[in-house]
Amino acid sequence: MGKSTLAIKGGKRVIPAGMQQKWPPVDDVDRQMVLASLEGKNHAFGPNCTAFEQEFAAWNGNPYAITTNSGTAALHMGVVACGCGTGDEIIVPAYSWSSSATCILHHSCIPVFVDIDFSTINIDVTKIERAITPRTKAIIVVHLHGLPVAMEPVLAIARKHKLKVIEDACQAHGATYKGRKVGTWGDCGAFSFNQNKCLCSGEGGMFVTNSEEMLNKARQLWSFGETATPTQKRDYHVYAMGWMYRNNDLTAAFGRSQLTKLDGFLKREIENAQVLTEQLRGVPGLILPMTPPDCGHNYYNYTIRFDMEALGHAHDASDYRYKLIAALQAEGLETGVWQSFVLPAMTVFQAKDGFGHGHPWSSPHAGPVNYDVSQYPQAQKHCDRHTGMTTPLRAPNGAELAMLVAEAIRKVMENADQV
Ligand SMILES: Cc1ncc(COP(=O)(O)O)c(C=O)c1O
Repeated sequence: MGKSTLAIKGGKRVIPAGMQQKWPPVDDVDRQMVLASLEGKNHAFGPNCTAFEQEFAAWNGNPYAITTNSGTAALHMGVVACGCGTGDEIIVPAYSWSSSATCILHHSCIPVFVDIDFSTINIDVTKIERAITPRTKAIIVVHLHGLPVAMEPVLAIARKHKLKVIEDACQAHGATYKGRKVGTWGDCGAFSFNQNKCLCSGEGGMFVTNSEEMLNKARQLWSFGETATPTQKRDYHVYAMGWMYRNNDLTAAFGRSQLTKLDGFLKREIENAQVLTEQLRGVPGLILPMTPPDCGHNYYNYTIRFDMEALGHAHDASDYRYKLIAALQAEGLETGVWQSFVLPAMTVFQAKDGFGHGHPWSSPHAGPVNYDVSQYPQAQKHCDRHTGMTTPLRAPNGAELAMLVAEAIRKVMENADQV
């Protein structure tokens, strides 16, 4: 059997089993900090939580941060901090993680979807203005897969229409626009520390802002609707609608220890992505990730698209994509489809029922919105053509694995007639 026989057809796989090392790397710094927390007196919102907030805020360049039990919680806090309420409309890209949009429902607000720009996979900034109505209160931008949205044009639109801007930076730790980190541009931002994220503490998140007013509004929602924080004297009075979104000490200890290594992790990820891009340039049938010159990508997810027009599979793009992915996986590559639905196609939006009785869409404060999926052709095109990689490019994996990842992709694309 020749070298070009695909593994899925019985050939030898390119990436040897067991070569890829697990994410995140854990060392004595992590062990010591997590064990010290375990030996401590407060396993709820303890001293590691407060320290994590201060250290993450300093790392990102925000004056304020609140640590949460998820990125979704931090996004919901952003919706509330922006002063949004029942029936208010919030603009969000048609392609993202589900909770970039369901966080809007969590506060009885109405998502209004805007198509993406196929080249960046981010919201198409040129289409935002036509989605604005008298009910619009905010824009959620998602720095998807670690590529920042062009924040200056977004902020210009927001200023013109008196809208707030929430940055969903859940995938974009350390990514920069015009040299400044994401999460510092909008009115507030949300990060996730979930398993596959560039900073992993198992689960967890961080709300960040430069505004004391936003901080106080977000804090109220975060802990049962109490204005007092858990570290201050509590009066157990519920002043406003609240959830329980606090982080815990053990998780924060792990987050803090990983944060000490984050810059090194991000450097390695970017170097590995560069190796991949150099090796894959010119491979037929592939569309590689693009980075506008004023952006610093963190390559959280190195996403490739198959050029189905060039491959002659525009008519069965999604099915053929799954065949190519099966062939890549057989070569030993950890890759797969990220979101296979555009957000407005998801049942909760099509049914327009979040809480029963059609709420929030049935509220007298809400206006009509149309979720006809034909309005988001670029998001659908991306959905049907992509596959992504996260862990193969993460530390401690290095250039040796990145070269084999490139070889596996090249082998499949050059022998696509076998799939
Ligand atoms: C773009 C985006 N937004 C929001 C989230 C939600 O983060 P979490 O899972 O921490 O709630 C995620 C990750 O899951 C995400 O990728």
